[in-house]
Amino acid sequence: MDITKARERIESLRRELETHNYRYYVLDDPVISDAGYDRLMRELENLEKQFPELVTPYSPTRRVGGKPREGFATIEHRVPMLSLGNAFSEAELRDFDRRVRGALPGEDVSYVVELKIDGLAVSLFYEDGLFVRGATRGNGEIGEDITHNLRTVRNIPLRLKDAVPALEVRGEVYMPQAAFEQLNRSRENEGKPLFANPRNAAAGSLRQLDPRITAARNLRAWFYAIGYHEGVSFATHGESLEYLAGLGLPVNPYYRRFQDIGKVLDYCREWEAKRFELPFAIDGMVVKVDSLEQQERLGATLKSPRWAIAFKFSPEQAATKVKDIILRVGRTGVLTPTAVLEPVRLAGTTVSRATLHNEDIIKEKDVHIGDTVIVQKAGEIIPEVVAVLTEERTGAEKPFKMPEQCPDCGARVVRQEGEAAFRCTSMTCPARLREGLIHFASRGAMDIAGLGPAVIEQLLKAGLIHDAADLYSLKYEELIKLERFGAKSARNLLAALEESKKASLGRLVFALGIRHVGERAAKTLAGHFGTLERIMKAGYEELVGIPEIGPKMAESITTFFAQEQNKAVLEKLVRAGVNTEEKRRRETGLHPLEGKTFVLTGTLQEFTRQKAKEIIESLGGKVSSSVSKNTDYVVSGENPGSKYEKAVKLGVPVIDEKKFREIVSL
Ligand code: IVH
Repeated sequence: MDITKARERIESLRRELETHNYRYYVLDDPVISDAGYDRLMRELENLEKQFPELVTPYSPTRRVGGKPREGFATIEHRVPMLSLGNAFSEAELRDFDRRVRGALPGEDVSYVVELKIDGLAVSLFYEDGLFVRGATRGNGEIGEDITHNLRTVRNIPLRLKDAVPALEVRGEVYMPQAAFEQLNRSRENEGKPLFANPRNAAAGSLRQLDPRITAARNLRAWFYAIGYHEGVSFATHGESLEYLAGLGLPVNPYYRRFQDIGKVLDYCREWEAKRFELPFAIDGMVVKVDSLEQQERLGATLKSPRWAIAFKFSPEQAATKVKDIILRVGRTGVLTPTAVLEPVRLAGTTVSRATLHNEDIIKEKDVHIGDTVIVQKAGEIIPEVVAVLTEERTGAEKPFKMPEQCPDCGARVVRQEGEAAFRCTSMTCPARLREGLIHFASRGAMDIAGLGPAVIEQLLKAGLIHDAADLYSLKYEELIKLERFGAKSARNLLAALEESKKASLGRLVFALGIRHVGERAAKTLAGHFGTLERIMKAGYEELVGIPEIGPKMAESITTFFAQEQNKAVLEKLVRAGVNTEEKRRRETGLHPLEGKTFVLTGTLQEFTRQKAKEIIESLGGKVSSSVSKNTDYVVSGENPGSKYEKAVKLGVPVIDEKKFREIVSL
C-alpha cells in the first residue's frame, strides 16, 4: 500500500472506530461485535506500524500509551474551578431559591436539575476538536496534569465530532458500581486493601503514574459544564449541555428543567429514592439557574457560584442493635468478625449483618455485643459499623475477644506479624474447604451453574466431596438422594460440571484459590506457561521474571504447588479430564481465522446461525451475508439457498457442517 492509500484507510478506520466507541460507551447501543471491533483495531494497528509517520496522539490505538510517569505536572485552570454550596434540607433549598429570586426581582427563573455524580472533578481541554490536556480540580486554581490517564477513559472522545477551535469542558470521572465491586473482589483475592467506595477507587485510579493501571480500572465520565469556549454562544445552561452531547461528549441524560422550586425538590426526592438503581453512585442533585445571562449577574462568592447549589442526600445511616459478633473463616483461613444486627432498613434494603473487618477495628470503635450502633452503607455495598452509641449502654453489653481456636475446626488461631488478620492454622479446616469450593465454582472461576454455597454445604455434609476434584466424580444416584434435589437439578448440575471441564486454563488457575493470585494474574500465568504442568514446575525465579508477578505472589504460587495435598487434588482434576491447556481463543491473542470471510447458508444441525457467527468472529473471522469472489468459505447446511449456487459458480469452496467443525476445531 502506498502512503496516500494508507492515509485514507487509516483515517477511515479511525472514524469508524470512533463511531463504534461512541455507540458503545456513550450511547450504550453498539452496532458491531467485539470481534468486529477488534478486527478494525488490528488493521489500524498494523497500518500504523507500517507507517509510523501517520500515527497521531488522538488515534484510537493510542489510548493507553507511554511509560509510567515520574510525577504529575501542574496545570493552572484558565477559569477557576469553583465548588458548590450545599443544601441539606428542603428549607435550605428554598432559601437558595429565595436568594436567587431576590437578586433577580420580577424576572422569570428556570432551573436545570442534574444528578450529582460522586466522582472526581476534571477539566479537559480540546484544541481544534482534539483532546490535548486534562487536569484534576486540585485546589480550584491549580490542578494536576492527568492527560495520559484521562485518555484511557473509554467514553472520553479523543476527537470531537466538530473541530471547534478551543473548548474546555468540565465533568466528573467516576467508577461504575460494577467495576468497583469487581475491583474490590480481585483486590480481596490478591490480599490487597479494599477501596472504601467508588469515589476513592476512582481517585486512586486517576492518580496512577502508570496509565496502564488506570486503563484497567474501567473509569467513565459525565460532563456537565463548559469552562471556556470560542466560536459558539448559548443562552442557557441546557443548551450548552445539548451542545456538549452533540460533540460526542457523554452528558448524563437525566437533567430536567423546572421553574417552580417545589418541582425541583420533588425531582431531587425522586432520585433520592431511586439512587441505588443507577449503575453509578450519586450523592445528591445539582440545581443550576438555566439562563447564562442570569448566572453572570448572580456571580459567585470566593468559593462557589450563587447560581447553583448541591442538594445533598441524607447519608444512608441507621441505628440498630448488635445481637452477636460471629466469625467467618474465609478460604485463606482469615477469621472475619461480622456483627449480627437487629434487621434495619438501610439504603433501600434490609440489613442484618455488618462487617467489622478485624479485631483492631472492633477495639478502635469499641464495639460490644449488645451495643446500639450506627451502621452505614460503605460505598453503598457492605454495611459497616460507623460508631457506637455509648450513651445507650446498660452495662449488660459484652466485649468481644478473638478466640484462640478456630470456631469451625478447633485448630489454633494465629495472628501474623504486621497483619491485622487472625488465621486458622489448619490446612484441612472444613470452613476453609467450604469457602475454597465456593470460590472454585464461582463465576470468574470454573463457573459451575447450580453449585452455590448451599449445595456445596449439602455435598460436604453428605460426605460426597472432600476436595474440588471430587466434584467431578459425583453420581446421579448420589445426587437425587439429597434433599431438594430432583432428577432435573441433578442432571443440570452434572451437565454444568461436565461443561466446566472445558474452562480455560486461566480460570482453572484462578479457581485453585492460590493466595494473592487473582483473575488477572491467573490469566497471565496461563498465557505465559500454556499448560498447568509448566506452571506447577515453575520456580520462584522464573515466576518473578514475569511482569505482573511480584515476589509475594511468586512465593505463594511455589508454596501452593509444593504441597502434597494440593498436588494430589490437581492430579485428580487432571484424571477427571479438566482442561489444563491454554487454547487458541481470543484471550490468547491467536486468531486462526484472521482475515477469513464466511457465508452461511441453509440450516445447520448443531448451531444456530448466531452461534456459528459468534464462533467465527471469536476466532478472528468475519461473516458476510453475500457470496463474492472474496468469500473464503460458504458453510452449507440443509436446504441451502441461492448462495450455494453462487459459490459454485464463483469457485468458492463450499463446506459442510462437519468440515466447519474441523476448521473451528470444535
Ligand atoms: S457543577 C461551579 N454539576 O460536585 C459549579 N458539579 O460539590 C461546578 N459534581 O466540584 C460544579 N456532579 O466535582 C456540577 N452535575 C454536576 C455535578 C457536579 C458532581 C461535583 C463536582 C463539584 C462538586 C461540588
